[in-house]
Amino acid sequence: MDKIVIEGGVPLKGTVEIRGAKNAALPILFSTILTDRPCKIENVPRLRDVDSALLILRELGMHCERSLDDTVHIQLEDDDCVTAPYDHVRKMRASVCALGPLLARRGKARVSLPGGCVFGVRPIDLHLKGLRALGAKIDIQHGYIEASVDPAKGRLQGSRIYLGGPYGSSVLGTANVMMAATLAEGTTVIESAACEPEIVDLANFLVSMGARIEGIGTPSVVIHGVDALDGAEHSVIPDRIEAGTFLIAGAITRGEVIVKGADYTHLGALIDGLHRAGVYLNVEDDLIRVTTNGSFRPVDVATLPYPGFPTDLQAQFMALLSLADGISVITEKVYPDRFIHISELCRMGANIRKEGPSAIVIGTDKLSGAPVMASDLRASASLVLAGLVAQGTTEVHRIYHVDRGYERIEERLRNLGAKIWREKEEVTS
Ligand code: UD1
Repeated sequence: MDKIVIEGGVPLKGTVEIRGAKNAALPILFSTILTDRPCKIENVPRLRDVDSALLILRELGMHCERSLDDTVHIQLEDDDCVTAPYDHVRKMRASVCALGPLLARRGKARVSLPGGCVFGVRPIDLHLKGLRALGAKIDIQHGYIEASVDPAKGRLQGSRIYLGGPYGSSVLGTANVMMAATLAEGTTVIESAACEPEIVDLANFLVSMGARIEGIGTPSVVIHGVDALDGAEHSVIPDRIEAGTFLIAGAITRGEVIVKGADYTHLGALIDGLHRAGVYLNVEDDLIRVTTNGSFRPVDVATLPYPGFPTDLQAQFMALLSLADGISVITEKVYPDRFIHISELCRMGANIRKEGPSAIVIGTDKLSGAPVMASDLRASASLVLAGLVAQGTTEVHRIYHVDRGYERIEERLRNLGAKIWREKEEVTS
């Protein structure tokens, strides 16, 4: 196991290029199950989650080849297997995205239930509700979702489905039902569909495969089922969460960072939050430049489904607000328990307390380096950000979480001047 070590206090300076979006690449990779024709997906980031997805796809009979330029070629080899086993699914919840495509194309699916995660229960009831509305028969047996198409009908049937849940729309629930509906008989309407850019990217890929989808990017998506989908080529959109994390890195270190290749139109809520915190941002084509006057104003913010403030940037923004001149309130409206990072940030001198689904962040002058434990992907990113500005040395343990979603983060931060490196953990009993 690796840890990341950071000597804090260096203002970052320079340009960092943004990679393809993990959360767009994963469902797009799984959607290739919908066709027997070759697919070429470009700008696929080199991440542990992508490796896990390719492993599952291979087990499902897809031939996957990755070239050095981050292109993945996928083609069906054998469509007998319909099982995504627990060992893989537990490592990455997005593998539940195999369910819709397997069901639609192979008539059957057996996918392990993904289970919870450190920031709370992660149900998939909306995925199942949507697929059942399309006529799938679904049982939960021995920890597996066993799903099949009604043999009398031979294929899924288009339907009108309301997919909103207690916390709004579901991103991967929308992805699963949308993928399944492309090969259903008749028309499907998904109401309260997720509008995230990653869902738009998936829909655009499906359209290039021959799917007929209207209302892409709106809460009401209409899918007219077709008999078969073709192969297609696609380049994955830039990762807005990675871009947001690097913008915050520039700001928190009071540096001058240019984020290159991001789509600023996907970052409206973060850009607004940073403006309100007194951070300067300058957007020119695909370049976003971040600078500060050295201090931050407190900001109240609530996470919400897109275009609201992304829950995946909540922990990172909290690290910045822990250094603001006043009290900020951060409310989690997507995952009310996603606050594990609070205790670790407090170990570094932050003054934050949780009150129900909110964090009360009382700004402090400085953070101090400490050994801290990464608990999930975005929480680890917030600890790295805190370490970049903290006085002294920070060690972020269990850094494998960060490798699930950030490509070579320490190398890219080092290119911006950070004193950061990776070390092997000493094994202690
Ligand atoms: C995706 C993202 C994840 C992000 C999240 C919210 C991927 C691979 N992951 O996860 O990084 O944090 O969106 O933006 O794209 N819910 C239900 N029932 C369901 C499904 C979800 O109640 O069947 C609830 C969840 O518990 C949560 C909320 O709905 O409170 C949103 O979850 P959802 O959008 O489904 O998250 P994911 O798609 O799993």
